[in-house]
Amino acid sequence: MDFRISTRGSHTPSSPIRKLHSLAESARSRGRIVYQLNIGQPDLPTPPVFFNQVKRFSEAVIAYAPSAGYPEVLEAWVQYFRNYKISFKPSEIIITSGASEALLFTLMAVADPGDEVIIFEPAYHSYISLNHMTGVTTRPVTLSATDGFQLPKIEKINKVVNKKTKAIIICNPSNPTGTVYGRRELQMIVEVASKNNLIIIADEVYREFLFDGQKHISMMSFPQVRNRVVLIDSVSKRFNLCGARVGCVASKNKEIIATILKFAQSRLSAPTLEQLGVIPLLKNPQRYTSKLVDEYDRRRSAVIKSLSSIKGVGWYRPAGAFYIMATLPVDDIEHFSRWLLESFHYKNETIMLAPGSGFYITPGLGKRQARIAFVLNSQKLRKAMEVLKQALRSYPKKITKK
Ligand SMILES: Cc1ncc(COP(=O)(O)O)c(C=O)c1O
Repeated sequence: MDFRISTRGSHTPSSPIRKLHSLAESARSRGRIVYQLNIGQPDLPTPPVFFNQVKRFSEAVIAYAPSAGYPEVLEAWVQYFRNYKISFKPSEIIITSGASEALLFTLMAVADPGDEVIIFEPAYHSYISLNHMTGVTTRPVTLSATDGFQLPKIEKINKVVNKKTKAIIICNPSNPTGTVYGRRELQMIVEVASKNNLIIIADEVYREFLFDGQKHISMMSFPQVRNRVVLIDSVSKRFNLCGARVGCVASKNKEIIATILKFAQSRLSAPTLEQLGVIPLLKNPQRYTSKLVDEYDRRRSAVIKSLSSIKGVGWYRPAGAFYIMATLPVDDIEHFSRWLLESFHYKNETIMLAPGSGFYITPGLGKRQARIAFVLNSQKLRKAMEVLKQALRSYPKKITKK
């Protein structure tokens, strides 16, 4: 057939996380146990209150929800944000199919094809692919593992701003690095955005995932940019509801919300049952998330302790989210990750990593880094780290590429 896929389609990279999926499936079909450290899919149970709420649904038809979301769901989000001293009215929020749709709508509302958006790399992979999908150019500011992926000096950020720049994305706490940004760094974003008339897309889906007594500072707590911030949020991680596909976009900027509402209308609605199911969780989030964060803290300790015993491995202790970006003593993590699934096992077990290069835009970066998601229980994580240790001993180091 004489048919050509769109340029945006062919340029969109596949997810670095899902890429190795078929190799993991085939390892499993050979009887191997594969510890999945590659994807931010927590293993903890969804709170029963969600299922109870869904069971209470008594309509005969599962109808479309209003495009912006049910009023009682919007009110529940208002209450959720209030817990964190973030003030929104229901009319300033739109319920989306996860943070993913919130990001897509926001990019489409603030930038045209050919416009530019600044991101900090390593970055959550979807920022890169969503930009390709929308035709928006992603301008990276590279962070360094040696200083814990903190933001660079303001001059370095200013350097990438030009006439086409429309927005800057900040993910706090960060996926994939686990870095938590403090007031000083966020203030820098405020300055760059104010000076250059940029929208700040603040992805705070890991808001509760903070360790070592850290306090989260929302981008909404800077009054001078209240009209510039678009907050991206989701129930996926904090309530173990990844498959519910419920998130939201919230902003004081009326024009942006009105535009996103038009996009939301064209896709009719976010899932009906699931958005209603999250109401009780949103009204009392800490009841669930405080226990959750304690569990992730234990998991973080388990991974860090095991990594410390492996020679040649570098890592930065994450203060938030549930990821560690580790530097491994191999030339090409992508090759190493394939080899782990295709050719290696230790006591019939192997691991699946997310190769670091997928979190960078700049070619050649991240080749020795892997993102480890600590989304398994501590016992499994210890076993997985033992597999990594043995694998690094056996890996034929001279191999660099297939
Ligand atoms: C930083 C970040 N933003 C957004 C998302 C997307 O979340 P959702 O499941 O709500 O679409 C993820 C998922 O991993 C994420 O890590």
